[in-house]
Amino acid sequence: MGEIKVELDLLKQFTRIFNTSNEQNRMFFAPGRVNLIGEHTDYNGGHVFPCALNIGTYAIVRKRDDKMIRMYSMNFENLGVIEFSLENLEYEDSHDWSNYPKGIIYTFKKHGYSIEKGFDVLFYGNIPNGAGLSSSASIELVTSVLLKGLFNLKIDMVNMVKMSQQAENEFIGVNCGIMDQFAIGMGKDDHAILLNCQTLDYTYSPLELQGASLIIANTNKRRGLADSKYNERRAECERALNQLQVELSIESLGDLTPEQFEHHKYLIQDEVDRKRAKHAVYENSRTKEAVIKLQQGDIVGFGELMKESHESLRNDYEVTGKELDTLVKAAWSQEGVIGSRMTGAGFGGCTVNIVRKNKIDMFIEQVGRNYTEETGLIADFYVVQVGGGAKELVCETV
Ligand code: GLA
Repeated sequence: MGEIKVELDLLKQFTRIFNTSNEQNRMFFAPGRVNLIGEHTDYNGGHVFPCALNIGTYAIVRKRDDKMIRMYSMNFENLGVIEFSLENLEYEDSHDWSNYPKGIIYTFKKHGYSIEKGFDVLFYGNIPNGAGLSSSASIELVTSVLLKGLFNLKIDMVNMVKMSQQAENEFIGVNCGIMDQFAIGMGKDDHAILLNCQTLDYTYSPLELQGASLIIANTNKRRGLADSKYNERRAECERALNQLQVELSIESLGDLTPEQFEHHKYLIQDEVDRKRAKHAVYENSRTKEAVIKLQQGDIVGFGELMKESHESLRNDYEVTGKELDTLVKAAWSQEGVIGSRMTGAGFGGCTVNIVRKNKIDMFIEQVGRNYTEETGLIADFYVVQVGGGAKELVCETV
């Protein structure tokens, strides 16, 4: 569906579901994100290099005169309209997906932002759910910009990014880092963002792929134990950091160069913790190097570092698994592929690929066939564009 078509369709659905006219409706959008390199470095105080996508979450909203909030998602139509009051913003299992936007309202209010009236809102997302392209951070940020717009709040994007992460950590209970919310809030057309997750200093880097495209491949493997394994990795890195801090005055693993790490790694007692820390340190340095290569126009060098990143995530961080490994392996042996690696938390989800434009059809066909032969699963492929961050859209009337 083209963007205009999506927007008109959503307006129609909104007026049908909430039984209102289409005046005073407003429309907001937040993208999904893909991380090009710098995986599992954000909560280790390292660098990440993500970009926002042109797919994401739309919200059509209209203010009410009372304190009721009514939410509807076209992605979960069977759950119907979910209703609650501004006076009662508790997490409720039965409210399912709407706990995400509810957590944002709760967090804004907790920080003292004045949200005195309710609203009706319809969401529609064209990011595949649970694929590791941040559909959750996307609905968080679209809710944040919607609150800012509807209630004229004085707040900048970085603060909305931080509050969205806080809502996910505290209200939803998922202990994610800041990368997803930052990429989605601060994305810029045709640019990726080099973000230092310790200081939140960032720079935009033009994503010039010299006749190649970004292709996301979805393993369609459910990310079963993803949350518990994610927390386990965080704990392993924390333990390694604590042991390094006995001798070193560092705040995070991101403070170490690979050389310093090699010198002091004996301080980490457990062999597994040592491997996890090694990944965090080397991946951080790889990310900075990769961005320099891209800026120098060395896209092949960038692709080689993507491969090293995947190997480190497979061997030292152990967050890949058969499906992701099979997809990247098939991609690496394919003509026209500049780089391929898993992206996001891992344990299923997607790979990100840089593929020469004239080889895309062959890539999709052959990598897809290989993957199915080896795993029995069918992969989905998306040729994506790099888009801007969360924002209000001009709302045409139907
Ligand atoms: C998930 C988290 C991010 C980040 C990545 C791994 O996407 O939400 O904060 O830790 O995993 O790089």
